[in-house]
Amino acid sequence: MSSVKSIAVLTSGGDSQGMNAAVRAVVRSALYNGLDVYGVQRGYQGLINDDLFKMDLRSVGDIIQRGGTILQTARCKEFITPEGQQRGADVLRARGIDGLVVIGGDGSYQGANKLSKLGIKTMGLPGTIDNDIPFTDFTIGFDTAVSIVVDAINKIRDTMSSHERSSVVEVMGRHCGDIALYAGLASGAETIIVPEVPIDMAEVSERMKSNFAKGKRHSIVVVAEGAGRGEDVAREITKGCGLEPRVTVLGHIQRGGTPTAMDRILASRLGDFAVHQLMAGESGKACGIIRGELVTTDIDTVVHSKKPFNMDLYNLALRLSQ
Ligand code: ADP
Ligand code: F6P
Repeated sequence: MSSVKSIAVLTSGGDSQGMNAAVRAVVRSALYNGLDVYGVQRGYQGLINDDLFKMDLRSVGDIIQRGGTILQTARCKEFITPEGQQRGADVLRARGIDGLVVIGGDGSYQGANKLSKLGIKTMGLPGTIDNDIPFTDFTIGFDTAVSIVVDAINKIRDTMSSHERSSVVEVMGRHCGDIALYAGLASGAETIIVPEVPIDMAEVSERMKSNFAKGKRHSIVVVAEGAGRGEDVAREITKGCGLEPRVTVLGHIQRGGTPTAMDRILASRLGDFAVHQLMAGESGKACGIIRGELVTTDIDTVVHSKKPFNMDLYNLALRLSQ
C-alpha cells in the first residue's frame, strides 16, 4: 500500500543536464506504481500560480537525452516568504496532491524544507552542476559539466602548446570548487583555484615560470568563479612573473547540452528512488548517492550543512601536474 496517491514534480533554480532524465524517472515510476502525477511549470513560481498539468507516459517521451528542463525553471522571490510557501502548500492540497519531488540546488532545497514543515510530503533531488549539495557524492549535471570543461580545456591546450602560452580558464561554482577540482584533475591543470582553499598567487606565478623554464610547453590554471574572476587571476600572474595568460570564461555552456550517460543513470535511479520513498511514507528527505548506494538524509540537515571539500583530490592534482 502506497502512502501517497498523487504526486507532483518540479524543477527549480539553475537548470542542469539530467533534470529531464530525473523528471522522466519520477513520472514513469509514479505511473508504473499506479500514482497520479502532475508537472509544475516554472518551479515554485508555477506552484504559487497553480500552474500544474497532469502528466502521462508520453509527457516525458524523447527527453532523456535533452539538456535544460521541459518543466521550465524559475527563481521565485515570493516563495521565500512564509505567505508564498503557504500558498504553495494550499495549491497542492486543493488539488489533492500529497507528495512533491523538488529537483534543484541548495536554494530549492530550502524551499522544499519549508513545504515539508507545512505538512507536504517532500523529496529533494540534487539537480545542479555545482556539486555543492552535502550528503551526496554527486549531483545531477555535475558529470556533464565537468566533461564540457575538460573538452574545452583539451581544445585550449592545443593552442597553448603550439604557442607555448599559459591560460586561465574560469569555470562555474559560486560557493563550491568541485567543477574546477574535477575538471582540473582530469585535464592536467597546473593550478586549481577554488573558494575552499586559500592560494598564494606569488607562489603560483613562481611555479608557472619555473615550469616553463624546465621545458613545459603550456600551463593551465582553472579558477572557480567563486574564488575570483579569470581576468583578475591573469593580471596577478602577469604582475608576479611576466607571463601573459589568455583568459577563457566558459559560462553557461557548462550548463547546457546533452547529459552524459552517468548523469542520466544517476537521474533515473534517484527519480525512481524518490517515488519509492514517498510511497513508503517518507517525507522531508534529500535523496543522494554515497559510494554508489542511494541514500536519504533529512533535508533540514542538508540545508544546514556544507559539503566537505576533497583535499585528497586537490593535492593529487597538484602532485601530478608538475
Ligand atoms: P538553486 O536551487 O539552484 O540553488 P536558487 O538559490 O535560486 O537556486 O533557489 C531556487 C528557488 O528556491 C528560489 O528562487 C526560491 O524560490 C527558493 N528558495 C531559495 N531559498 C529559499 C528559502 N530560504 N526559503 C524558501 N524558498 C527558497
Ligand atoms: O547552477 C549553478 C550556477 O551555475 C552557478 O555556478 C552560477 O554562479 C550560477 O548558477 C549562475 O546562474 P544564473 O546565470 O542562472 O544566475
